Amino acid sequence: MIALGCDHGGYELMQEVKDFLEHEGLEYQDFGCYSMESVDYPVYARKVTDAITQGVCEKGILICGSGIGISITANKVPGIRAALCTDCFCAEVTRLHNDANILALGGRVVGVGLALKIVDTFLNTPFSGEERHARRIRLIEQEED
Ligand code: RB5
Repeated sequence: MIALGCDHGGYELMQEVKDFLEHEGLEYQDFGCYSMESVDYPVYARKVTDAITQGVCEKGILICGSGIGISITANKVPGIRAALCTDCFCAEVTRLHNDANILALGGRVVGVGLALKIVDTFLNTPFSGEERHARRIRLIEQEED
């Protein structure tokens, strides 16, 4: 199950992402927002991070205008690794190396065609499982003394 969240800046692109997921037969849960009316992106970032940390969803896609605010918010949550991607290379590498569990996109940054390729790459690339990458992920989660 994929958790989806956006603000008004990401709303239009999210409709395209939902169409794509449906076409691919992938299940999602849409946590809003549900219109172009101005809203606060941290609210929707937290709905998606909650769904992941509570085990309701395995991965998430977050979209705001730039992708920045919504990914900054998501990355404050322990266990969340949100990757803001503007190309397929980053989408592939963040799954292989970082085991990213959220893809962040900028609805005002990438066009629909590229965005959907990024989504496809992110969802279909597994974590490499290599020890050096697993070690680095553990270090990300390590609490400061
Ligand atoms: C909303 O205008 C915009 O600030 C938001 O979508 C996002 O780009 C913030 O990082």
